[in-house]
Amino acid sequence: MSTANSATPAAITPYKALIAGRWIAGSGTLDVVNPATQAVFATVPDCTPDDARRAHDAAVEAFATWRRQTCFARSALLKAWHKAILADQERIARALSSEMGKPIAEARGEIAYAAAYVESFAEEATRIYGETFPVPGANKRAFASREPVGPVYAVTPWNFPAAMITRKVAPALAAGCTIIVKPAKQSPLTALILAELWEKVGGPAGTFQVITASNASRVSEVMFQSPAIRKLTFTGSTEIGRQLYQQAAATIKKVSLELGGHAPFLIFADADIDLAVKEVMACKFRNAGQTCVCTNRIYVQESIADAFASKLAAAVTALKVGNPADDATQIGPLVDAAALRKVSRHVDNAVQLGATVLTGGKALDGLYYAPTVLANVKPGMELMEEETFGPVAPLLTFKSEAEAIQAANDTPYGLAAYLYTNDLSRAIRVSEALEYGIVGVNDGATATAQAPFGGIKDSGIGREGGPWGLAEFLEVKYVSIAIKADCQPH
Ligand code: SIN
Repeated sequence: MSTANSATPAAITPYKALIAGRWIAGSGTLDVVNPATQAVFATVPDCTPDDARRAHDAAVEAFATWRRQTCFARSALLKAWHKAILADQERIARALSSEMGKPIAEARGEIAYAAAYVESFAEEATRIYGETFPVPGANKRAFASREPVGPVYAVTPWNFPAAMITRKVAPALAAGCTIIVKPAKQSPLTALILAELWEKVGGPAGTFQVITASNASRVSEVMFQSPAIRKLTFTGSTEIGRQLYQQAAATIKKVSLELGGHAPFLIFADADIDLAVKEVMACKFRNAGQTCVCTNRIYVQESIADAFASKLAAAVTALKVGNPADDATQIGPLVDAAALRKVSRHVDNAVQLGATVLTGGKALDGLYYAPTVLANVKPGMELMEEETFGPVAPLLTFKSEAEAIQAANDTPYGLAAYLYTNDLSRAIRVSEALEYGIVGVNDGATATAQAPFGGIKDSGIGREGGPWGLAEFLEVKYVSIAIKADCQPH
């Protein structure tokens, strides 16, 4: 079934939501705006708490049968979904790019990345092992097995409308859980298309549902109040994550939270400057800087600071800003007016407090912000305290390794950190000293479906990807068996 009503002649395409095995139009609609044009180009249902209740009931009902499928059957369906996503890569990438402004070349890359999670969890599904272990009682035998946690509620962000969904939905389905996704209101289309493809390959009703809504808290309330929803998985800001964590506590749900970051990038004097610039570019300017693992603070050792700054500024000036629908575009618009205001506020505040603009430093037309490099950045500036989520590279300097480590760790966040050095001992020392869930050594683009993605401190709880990501959707059951000691051999 198609999510879009192709008979409608208007340029605005209405999409439907998948609830309890049916595509519903909803009693109200929510506009989807293209950030590049700021025009509405699609609508989705504005789901109500009643819709959320129907999704809830369907997820609970479907869980009873889905969990009993063999892991091989679940794996086969995930493999079919993986193929279907790749076969439809261009359509999904276009929808994703239109709804949140990611350049089309990057959007295609995100669909491949999203599909890789599905493939990886299709494989992990067949490796849900248990253990036997010795216990002191001579007549006792014990084992631990793994069971699905239960129906899951997922709240996903707009910056990766495909990958943040598949890295939650695929492990949930692989584990035998059912899942309801509430995508960000800025980017609901990708979620709906992913659900359409799951249904198309035979995904049973109620196993993966999508509720689109303008008011997240009204529909989320239904899930938080229900003891039948056994897990919350969320990607988004630390502020919202904290609230959801509290709400999930009422029914003691298992939680995974992938929250904000404030990634440092340390560049040591022994580094190859050209390669370091390349890695910083890959890290910082992906998705116009709207990524929670993008570096927010680039610390360069004093002796190479000027050379690094001028090479970075030249590379940033050469970035092609433009229409996200064009293949050559590297930097698209920011997602909305609030995002643009925040980036402008951070840069203006830094400049007022003494930062120097090496390139960029201003808003362009519409929701675009010029790719920017700032030198002479200092602690205390707003962009040193909060995630900027924009194409702004702040440069600081350091004298010693100890000073760099201290500055890098001086934050409540602990998601990703990066360092560039050609000294192996330093690479190991520094990566061990960094208080982060992810460390990239000479690598500014660490993300891959096989790795554990997640942070510590205010950056969250749990990991997504690989066996770690699957474990988040499993409970351990310990079974102790007392056997009759006097049993005679036949
Ligand atoms: C994120 O920004 O939350 C995800 C980035 C990634 O997967 O690399």
